[in-house]
Amino acid sequence: MHRHHTGIMPLVSFVTLAVAGGPCVQTAMPQAQDEETSPQVRLTVLYDNYGYRPSVHTDWGFSCLVELPETTLLFDTGARPDILRANSRVLGVDLASVDTLVLSHDHQDHVGGLSAVLSRTQRLDAWTLESFPDGLLHQLRDANSTVHTAISPTEIAPSVYLTGELGARLGEQALVIDSAEGLVVVTGCAHPGPVCIARRTLSMLEGPIHLMVGGFHLLNASEGELEEVIEELASLGVQRVAPSHCSGERARSLFKRAYGERFLESGVGRVFTMPCVAGPTLYR
Ligand SMILES: [Fe+2]
Repeated sequence: MHRHHTGIMPLVSFVTLAVAGGPCVQTAMPQAQDEETSPQVRLTVLYDNYGYRPSVHTDWGFSCLVELPETTLLFDTGARPDILRANSRVLGVDLASVDTLVLSHDHQDHVGGLSAVLSRTQRLDAWTLESFPDGLLHQLRDANSTVHTAISPTEIAPSVYLTGELGARLGEQALVIDSAEGLVVVTGCAHPGPVCIARRTLSMLEGPIHLMVGGFHLLNASEGELEEVIEELASLGVQRVAPSHCSGERARSLFKRAYGERFLESGVGRVFTMPCVAGPTLYR
């Protein structure tokens, strides 16, 4: 599947990689690959209000590990380092493997677990927002992280993008991964709204959106507002949803009713896998 994107600020080295042969097919692979040997994108929910597997800890917050052939990325850190550590252990995740960190926004339930990853890693590439306080940036730099800011849509690793800062009042960014099945959008709290994030995603990259996963921030939305959001996401072609964290029970049940089997239960321990993009990303 060839994909196009517009207006994205790629890192120079990644442009070279992408043009040279596609983000996920850098190494020579046998021509006939079955599903098990083809490169996969793998998302593991490490921190959430909901549990998906036994023996995990649930808590208000969100964190998701994203593993690709060339990148291991942690999106948000949840609220408490001890819980992030404990869930990682139960799920067989070594936080030392993380090379890239994305913080969606500066709320404790997303950045509070930071020390759990900083104490296990060295020289992280950390993606922040311009609006982040100095204390948080110092914490990252003191741990030898390289701090980056994505003001506008940016490719941060092969097949991995940030939306740039969205939201008029509270800045937040979302993560987008290009997979062979379509785009996968990971949201922290979605304060700017899931519809706004889906629209930004589709202005950056060719759809469809295969899956939106994370907090949808619809706790206080009325039933009418929820129906509107669901209708808009469906009309934007969002194929599957996995709302958890701050989405709210009512939103979850309405999404479930509307999306049927394309509503995916999420929570700590849930793993989503998709094949990597099979061809080169084409740059306009
Ligand atoms: Fe949150």
